[in-house]
Amino acid sequence: MAILVAGGAGYIGSHVCKMLLQKGFDVVVYDNLVHGYRCFAQWGDFVQGDIGDQAQLDSVFSNFKIDVVMHFCAFIEVAESVIEPEKYYKNNVQNTITLLEAMRKHGINKFIFSSTAAVYGMPERTPIEEEDRKLPINPYGKSKLMIEEILDDYSSAYGFRSIRFRYFNAAGADPEREIGEAHVPETHLIPLLLDAAIGRRKDIKVFGTDYETQDGTCVRDYIHVNDLADAHIRGVDYLLDGGNTNYFNLGSGSGFTVREMIQTAKKITTKDFAVVETDRRPGDPPYLIACSDKAQKKLDWKLQHSLEDIIITAWNWHQTMAGRKLV
Ligand code: UFG
Repeated sequence: MAILVAGGAGYIGSHVCKMLLQKGFDVVVYDNLVHGYRCFAQWGDFVQGDIGDQAQLDSVFSNFKIDVVMHFCAFIEVAESVIEPEKYYKNNVQNTITLLEAMRKHGINKFIFSSTAAVYGMPERTPIEEEDRKLPINPYGKSKLMIEEILDDYSSAYGFRSIRFRYFNAAGADPEREIGEAHVPETHLIPLLLDAAIGRRKDIKVFGTDYETQDGTCVRDYIHVNDLADAHIRGVDYLLDGGNTNYFNLGSGSGFTVREMIQTAKKITTKDFAVVETDRRPGDPPYLIACSDKAQKKLDWKLQHSLEDIIITAWNWHQTMAGRKLV
């Protein structure tokens, strides 16, 4: 069975490709390398291309017999999406429709889509369940929810079967240190903490200390990227076994505050670094914790990595990469 992984040279996509190959699937990475790295596309064939390029998609679907498509290539910066919504709707919505069109033209009807906790907006309750209110508060979250809705319509109209995985805070790295998290610009807490630990930043900022949480800082549900990858493999099996269109939260079910994350990072790295408390970052919900019971039941998915594993693997990767430029 062959899987086309759009965005397979990015952070989550590359971990999924590595696992797919280990499980015996054929892999074709399709990535425009705007945010991905050629050196991350080590597993399977590589085609440089954009999901908005109909002609190139036509050619890749003609050259490779693809059974399932996975789609990881979205813009993900919440703050940027507020300032430049067009960029988000064009890439995350319009170009995704182009990809779906190309798939339909070539008779491919199985699709796995990277969605996000951001579709829930400010959650009504915690942990969040899949049927809870979805009211995204920024164009990034809206763009993901739009595709989720389109996929339901494709399912009813065209028999197009898909899975949407709503990731909470993806984190950690490949235990073999071959790939890891590296966004440009980096806005995510764990890589920034490790940058501070390694001396690449002079401090870490805490965005808001007056939230109604146990220590006043935001609580997030961090999930190891290989636990996400494992869910994707199960998702492929589910679709290949004839499973219907479905959607799942993917989180650990445990929440940690920013202060707890700082403490854990200092303990694991054995480095002390300066912590600066600043104002809230706009659009941050106080709590985001997933209920992932549905994925556990339907996909027989089990969490294998703890918060310590997340920070240890991320730290090992960070040290391996220190000073190297990714290309
Ligand atoms: N934080 C800091 N200082 C920093 C960076 C982050 O205090 O320098 C805080 C944030 O305010 C937040 C927490 O650390 O409370 C985690 O922040 P991240 O930026 O690492 O992750 P987010 O929870 O903001 O984002 C994640 C995904 C997004 C998704 C969002 C859903 O990375 O793709 O959840 O709300 F949209």
